[in-house]
Amino acid sequence: MNASTDPGRQRRTAFVTGAATGIGAAIAVALARNGYDVAVSARQAERLADTEKQISALGAHAVPLALDLSALEEIEPAVEKVFQAFGRIDVLVNNAGATLRKPVLEVTPDEWESVMQPNLKGTFFLCQKAGRRMIERGTAGCIINLASAHGVVGFPNRSVYGISKAALIHMTRMLAIEWAGYGIRVNAIAPGTVETASRAEILADPKVKETMLNRVPLHRFATPLEIADAVCFMASPAAAYMTGQTLMFDGGLTAY
Ligand SMILES: NC(=O)c1ccc[n+]([C@@H]2O[C@H](COP(=O)([O-])OP(=O)(O)OC[C@H]3O[C@@H](n4cnc5c(N)ncnc54)[C@H](OP(=O)(O)O)[C@@H]3O)[C@@H](O)[C@H]2O)c1
Repeated sequence: MNASTDPGRQRRTAFVTGAATGIGAAIAVALARNGYDVAVSARQAERLADTEKQISALGAHAVPLALDLSALEEIEPAVEKVFQAFGRIDVLVNNAGATLRKPVLEVTPDEWESVMQPNLKGTFFLCQKAGRRMIERGTAGCIINLASAHGVVGFPNRSVYGISKAALIHMTRMLAIEWAGYGIRVNAIAPGTVETASRAEILADPKVKETMLNRVPLHRFATPLEIADAVCFMASPAAAYMTGQTLMFDGGLTAY
């Protein structure tokens, strides 16, 4: 009998946003491997089929959900569905995030909103809705935000994205302080470049790739699995004394 079929064993539960591909999919599957039932979201739920399959293959329960973080009215119903399915959320991973590569002089107000809405406003209100449920239920919980090295150091053509991630890092501190008394830990992880499909286009240019690699002391990019393992650590009892922190996971990029 494994953990998922043992009715006497309390399963831990997680909700991972943006889990159809890349880092989010790796995090969802790694949490399942570590004994969690996992709710996963994407803007189009059908894109979650592969992640769902991988979670189920590990004997964990997967709940796929459609959620566009730019549409605030979708957030409460999504949280409600996770609570209906699991009765609790132990770990919320705010992985979903929009990106934008544009010089400051060319950014439009709509582009600004397209990044800030999901990365900041949607993420803030998802934390609020999930956090309220954790507090009402009286269960300890854990929130992990996917920030970025661009939220800590400057980089050309990433202003809006970097500003959103810098604010996310500060949001992590603010929530951690308000919610520590409820047993809710809030942390962030800030990767440097991770080799995902969303970065494939930029890394396809060998010159750009070499320039980026030369900025990284470990001289390689991270894999989604490495980020997922770090998230599992941050969710685990081994990180019970860690809150309000941002784990720089960037091969030394920001150590200069
Ligand atoms: N890859 C890197 O080098 C790197 C480095 C540092 C930080 N990060 C951060 O790590 C996270 C994952 O990045 P990634 O490279 O794996 O994937 P990604 O392709 O950049 O996208 C992440 C996810 O965000 C979701 N998303 C975008 N806009 C959304 C919205 N309005 N509402 C809901 N979901 C939305 C997408 O979901 P859909 O399926 O709905 O399209 C996608 O699955 C992001 O927060 C990213 O900023 C990545």
